[in-house]
Amino acid sequence: MARARGGPRTVSAGVLATLVMVAGLLAACAGVGAPSPGASLGTPPEPRSAILVAHRGASAYAPEHTLASYELGIEQGADYIEPDLQITRDGVLIALHDLTLERTTNVEDVFPDRFREAEVRGERVHVWPAADFTLAEIRTLDAGSWFDPSFADARVPTFREVVELARGRAGLFIETKAPEVYGDLGFDMEAQLLAELAELGLDEPREDPTTPVIIQSFSAASLELLRNEHATDLPLALLIGGDEAAAEWLSPEGLTRAAAFATGIGPAKDLLVADATVVDRAHDLGLTVVPWTFRARSPGDGFATVEDEMTYFISELGVDGIITDNPDLFPRGLARGGP
Ligand code: G3P
Ligand code: CA
Repeated sequence: MARARGGPRTVSAGVLATLVMVAGLLAACAGVGAPSPGASLGTPPEPRSAILVAHRGASAYAPEHTLASYELGIEQGADYIEPDLQITRDGVLIALHDLTLERTTNVEDVFPDRFREAEVRGERVHVWPAADFTLAEIRTLDAGSWFDPSFADARVPTFREVVELARGRAGLFIETKAPEVYGDLGFDMEAQLLAELAELGLDEPREDPTTPVIIQSFSAASLELLRNEHATDLPLALLIGGDEAAAEWLSPEGLTRAAAFATGIGPAKDLLVADATVVDRAHDLGLTVVPWTFRARSPGDGFATVEDEMTYFISELGVDGIITDNPDLFPRGLARGGP
């Protein structure tokens, strides 16, 4: 898809129609989705323990994508925290999972008239796209009470604040979310991300060994743009979820194609249970494998606890890392195994 560069900061009706449709899809997916900070996924797997990635922070215990959640993830020993990126109306990168604000903030109460209509699973609903609001407006929102009243002070953080929190303490496992949608709005998420990382001295692999950076995306186009057009050398991981994407990327041909621009893959964990050959085949191509999402509240079929499940993935399947809402339950000190 042709991507707009820089340009306007206003949002056209047509683009927003697309945006709210995608918002519906992402909202539907929302429930799905250091060893030391010295550990790196930028090189082929080494005989070491798996890395621990705190998914949306320690999001089982604190509201996802808030500084409180990231802080707890780091305190619980995460090697990496995992910010998802969205862009505000005035062009600021923020950490937020959904394209829209209503699931994780009180935007409905603060800006009751600023909704757009969207269709989600056949129903007309109101949504509040982040791209409709300036950072100053988003800063007024309570991003914690939906999770628990004790987090009422939590705000949607900027990407820069997340980096500042992690700096020297944990790595960043950054996800470009819906970059095509933001491209259609006149933004360039990849260029913006790399520019911010460059300003922070983090745009080269292991430039700051205490804060390694990995970029992940469900969008192969986003990763190809980063690798080929922006010529970044940072590790890039292709997220793979659902049958269609699995068929496209987990075949021998698909993995070979992925290896042309990515250094790793991030499959939904069920895909590795369905085909246990994926890990070895990916490793043979020099690709790391870091599945998602491991949750105490919903261990995978056949596992009594999420600890058992994570142990199986590390010791038996030989994955390189684990993305979990429960960093405190990560089984430490396990050698990676594999068939
Ligand atoms: O890191 C992978 C995982 O975060 C992808 O799912 O929906 O939680 O962003 P999601
Ligand atoms: Ca994510």
